[in-house]
Amino acid sequence: MLGKYIVLIWILLHSNFAYSDILKYNSSILEDAHLTTPGLIKKHGYKVETHKIETKDGYLLGIHRIPKPGAQPVLMVHGLGDSSATWVLSGPRSALGYLLSDRGYDIWLMNIRGNRYSRKHRKYIPLNREFWDFSFHENGFYDIPAVIDYILKRNEEHTQVHYIGHSQGTTAAFAMGAERPEYMKKIKLLTALAPVAYFRNLRTPATDFLKIHAQTLINLVRLFGIFEFPPEREVWNRLTYQICSFAFRNTCQYIMMLVMGMDSSQFNETLIPILTSHYLAGSSVKALEHYYQLLLTGGFYKLNYLNPTVNIRKYGTKYPPEYKVENIDCKVALYYSRNDRLTSHKDVQNLRKKLPNVVHDELLAYSKFSHLDFLVAIDVQKLLYDSVLRVMQKVDRGEL
Ligand SMILES: *[C@@H]1O[C@H](CO)[C@@H](O)[C@H](O)[C@H]1NC(C)=O
Repeated sequence: MLGKYIVLIWILLHSNFAYSDILKYNSSILEDAHLTTPGLIKKHGYKVETHKIETKDGYLLGIHRIPKPGAQPVLMVHGLGDSSATWVLSGPRSALGYLLSDRGYDIWLMNIRGNRYSRKHRKYIPLNREFWDFSFHENGFYDIPAVIDYILKRNEEHTQVHYIGHSQGTTAAFAMGAERPEYMKKIKLLTALAPVAYFRNLRTPATDFLKIHAQTLINLVRLFGIFEFPPEREVWNRLTYQICSFAFRNTCQYIMMLVMGMDSSQFNETLIPILTSHYLAGSSVKALEHYYQLLLTGGFYKLNYLNPTVNIRKYGTKYPPEYKVENIDCKVALYYSRNDRLTSHKDVQNLRKKLPNVVHDELLAYSKFSHLDFLVAIDVQKLLYDSVLRVMQKVDRGEL
């Protein structure tokens, strides 16, 4: 067992020296790695605003906006461990945030509780364990509704937002639909990129590893009083940035693809410093635990407190109930791929059968498309975003 890992590590390390082409980044890329989301947007010549929005349970979210007052608002919600930067980091003419802004939409970029832009609470600070007591459930129950209400309140001409989610940004939207169905009327179209709800058909080396070891790891970090993931976020951030951008670029790229899906032909290596410095923006151990439980059961269940008494107090039943996906009755557009290692196309197709109002269902034609490609593939506009924009505009014109 140990021997296998040693061989693997040797191969990974060795691969860095096998390629001697040291990639030169230009200074603009390295500058982008150190800017915040508003800094990135401003640098590329777009207007930007930051809004502080309070949730019902006391978190202060830092939301970024590329404003077009009076225009149709679009709320874009990032994935696990990610931030608002994900929608702009590949720059104008490529990133979806800019493409939508160029087409006249009013762009709102979510930062869910706990990430680097949303680390304030009325009562708690990030050193308190209570601050980290959330998963995608709370993101869907509190964070997204608070932001939707805020956007619609300042925009009298519109009664609905376009919603675009990637990965956990879709899971949170599904949880919101199940738990707070009144918000489905406020969504014009839910564009779900790499939708995640069921894990019945996902089997990769990473999921095999997690199924065996995750609970032990989770218990261990809790034992050490760690509730944030990753703990010491800024240190990890700087480490991954240094390690992945320079000396161990190939290893890092390999691990990234191992987790997200192999697709080197659509991977733009120049973006590594920007990707690694903006990713790991902060989340909770509980968010990981909830996903781990979905992975174990395959069903879309609420969090299991692993204690029947607590479950009965929370849910009235010994085991947590399933989310009522039939409540998600807004218009939904699904985009998914065969080569996504974090969500299986078969599971998305199972989800599709249960959703009452799917207006567009697209298994991407380019079969190697990975979980990361949804954000930064070299040809992402041609392979995905053109279709996303077409469907949104059809809905806007009342044709769908
Ligand atoms: C890779 O990303 C950089 C920075 O955004 C961009 O200038 C370059 O054109 C991209 N490369 C390809 C092949 O698209």
